[in-house]
Amino acid sequence: MTSATASAPGKLMLFGEHAAVYGHPCLVTAVDFRTRVLVRRSEDKSVVLRIPSRPEPFVLTVDELQGANSFPGEIRFLATAIKKFWGHAGETFGMEVRTQSDLAHSFGLGSSSAVTVAAIKALSEASHHPLDLDLVFRLSYETVREAQTGLASGFDVAAATFGGTLYYVAETRLVQPLDIQELPLVIGYSGRKANTVEYVKQVRTLSQTHPQLAGGIMRHIASIVAKAKVGLERQDWAQVGLLMDLNQADLQALGVSTHELDSLIYAARTNGALGAKLSGAGGGDCIIALVDGETRTPVEKAIAQCGVAGAQVVSPGLGAEGVRLDQWRE
Ligand code: PMV
Repeated sequence: MTSATASAPGKLMLFGEHAAVYGHPCLVTAVDFRTRVLVRRSEDKSVVLRIPSRPEPFVLTVDELQGANSFPGEIRFLATAIKKFWGHAGETFGMEVRTQSDLAHSFGLGSSSAVTVAAIKALSEASHHPLDLDLVFRLSYETVREAQTGLASGFDVAAATFGGTLYYVAETRLVQPLDIQELPLVIGYSGRKANTVEYVKQVRTLSQTHPQLAGGIMRHIASIVAKAKVGLERQDWAQVGLLMDLNQADLQALGVSTHELDSLIYAARTNGALGAKLSGAGGGDCIIALVDGETRTPVEKAIAQCGVAGAQVVSPGLGAEGVRLDQWRE
């Protein structure tokens, strides 16, 4: 085969954001907003990247690709993945690469990690260098670290690679799939895109200026994650909801929640949610609220009508399948 398409899911952080960057565990689920990458090997040595947001393709030489990590955001992850894969395969080759995304990028549900993982998988298939999932994960994580200044736990890469709902520890690269039948969550988009790198840096500054205080909060988050893992496995929703509220309090203490996120969270809680928290770096993107059969509809309505501009409920499937070979959709 000289051409291949792979797709990978987006992600939703359930518990443990920010602490995950400092080696603590987190809980994440894959969402079935998928990103597809098509790789078609060519006879010449040029690399042609076609992405939906640009009418004209990026045409690059092998030499130009070496500077991939300084490219614009839209192609940086893709180009860095190609460079990484060439390094692994021990050869360079020309190709056309196309990408296609469901809605993940609009809501901060993880399109950079998904594009990276899908690209590594498609590259390996199109060039007859099959990779097992652990290697897909490793090459993708190295790509993301290089393309994104090194401050990344890789939880999103783990979700895109392995899928499902995972207990993940960056420091030891432990990826433990959890057997969870049901995740009764409402996801509310806060109307504003988050700048993950900016918020990760803000927390790093706090960790440097107030190491004991920040370290205490991180350790508290880690103990919440440990309890939340058990709560999710037992489907003890009262416990999981309480832990979501406690985790949110820690994220507020770290200074990453916003007025908009707090408004969505209070709308959810006051309409019957068992717990609610922001998901991801903060500053925008999404909140998650834990509901049951009776409270789902009132919570969804309350989020949509809470008065925050652009607030809306997003409903991808959760615990989605990880990276896989797929069909290109014209
Ligand atoms: O903003 P998101 O959804 O990409 O989540 C970032 C989560 C952090 O823990 C803040 C960073 C990381 O790499 O784990």
